[in-house]
Amino acid sequence: MAFHNVYRNKKVLITGNTGFKGAWLSTWLLMLGADVYGYSIDIPTQPSMFQVLDLENKLHNHFGDVRNKEELNNYIQQVTPDFIFHLAAQAIVSTSYAAPFDTITTNVVGTASVLESICNITWPCTCILITSDKAYNNVEWIWGYREVDALGGKDVYSGSKGAAELIIKCYWNSFIQKIPHIKLGIARAGNVIGGGDWAKDRIIVDCINAFVEDKEVEIRCPNATRPWQHVLEPLSGYLTLGQYLHEDRVDNGEPFNFGPRAEQTKTVFELVQKMAKLWEKKSENIVKITDNIPFNEATLLKLNCDKALAFLNWHSTFNYEQCVQFIVDWYRSFYIGNKIDMYQLTLKQIEEYILEAEKQHLDWTI
Ligand SMILES: NC(=O)c1ccc[n+]([C@@H]2O[C@H](COP(=O)([O-])OP(=O)(O)OC[C@H]3O[C@@H](n4cnc5c(N)ncnc54)[C@H](O)[C@@H]3O)[C@@H](O)[C@H]2O)c1
Repeated sequence: MAFHNVYRNKKVLITGNTGFKGAWLSTWLLMLGADVYGYSIDIPTQPSMFQVLDLENKLHNHFGDVRNKEELNNYIQQVTPDFIFHLAAQAIVSTSYAAPFDTITTNVVGTASVLESICNITWPCTCILITSDKAYNNVEWIWGYREVDALGGKDVYSGSKGAAELIIKCYWNSFIQKIPHIKLGIARAGNVIGGGDWAKDRIIVDCINAFVEDKEVEIRCPNATRPWQHVLEPLSGYLTLGQYLHEDRVDNGEPFNFGPRAEQTKTVFELVQKMAKLWEKKSENIVKITDNIPFNEATLLKLNCDKALAFLNWHSTFNYEQCVQFIVDWYRSFYIGNKIDMYQLTLKQIEEYILEAEKQHLDWTI
């Protein structure tokens, strides 16, 4: 059991279910015995975790645009979900430079149409809205951002996530807090890594592609540091927030940060070296440093996760080594394994993650 079994036999709707995080979340919820529904515009990559795990045949999938308010509202009214996890977004920073307007309509107007649909719900429903650590106004300080810090965003992707947060807050204040059967939580997490990601301009994807093709990994900023965390870490946070709201154990309408341990802040170069070692790459020349910097990336942005610890008894589970080992195991099984059932392998990774969290007595494992 985990999450007090609150997801068992419940209808859970995930927007963005065909994406990287959405596919992992769907798999975990299926494992918890939930009846999973998905609403996404497309399958964003080839290959995709959604297809590799054959999720289309394991959950109820609907292709639709979150900006289409009527279609989304009709779907929610038809499904009558007990839980909604809103993940659908234009989530790639480089794409936000090429398609700023599309990024803003998807991330901001899309969130507004989810909120409109939530206002129309007439049954008990717990809604978790996923934004990002990039929603904070990054003033480039060394401290972790707290939920009370200012929102902002200098680039379009970050600004769209900050704007989505403002829209959530005004719908909450004006309408949703007055609806007694709706519970709402906002989840902010940073860069996540894990098996099953094939999105462009993400370092893990670049690494794996280079290893598979026996090429050097091209990296732009070897000394850039990121607080790396495995995808299962924020997902355990989202599911805990959903559970606690459902059980009335935490305040309604609040944002929560879900970030990694401080020691997981490593440079891009260190991460690539570690991945190469675990992949058993023999070549001396693993990395090629390029000076091609096509867009400005925010410097280190850390999250302070004291609120999640205090109110949800949540902290991250894996150390850096476990995180990278899980990723390499997943991709090696996919590319080198002999007809491995990737759905079973993904379930096994989730089970191992739960076992590790149990050892640390995390409340959500009960
Ligand atoms: N991956 C990360 O490192 C990271 C970090 C912080 C926050 N997030 C946030 O987590 C969420 C999921 O991220 P991800 O990495 O899985 O993204 P992804 O790019 O892998 O998937 C995006 C999903 O959104 C769907 N989508 C895009 N536009 C849509 C639209 N107009 N209508 C309906 N569906 C649409 C896609 O079909 C896909 O299912 C996003 O909100 C993202 O901003 C991700």
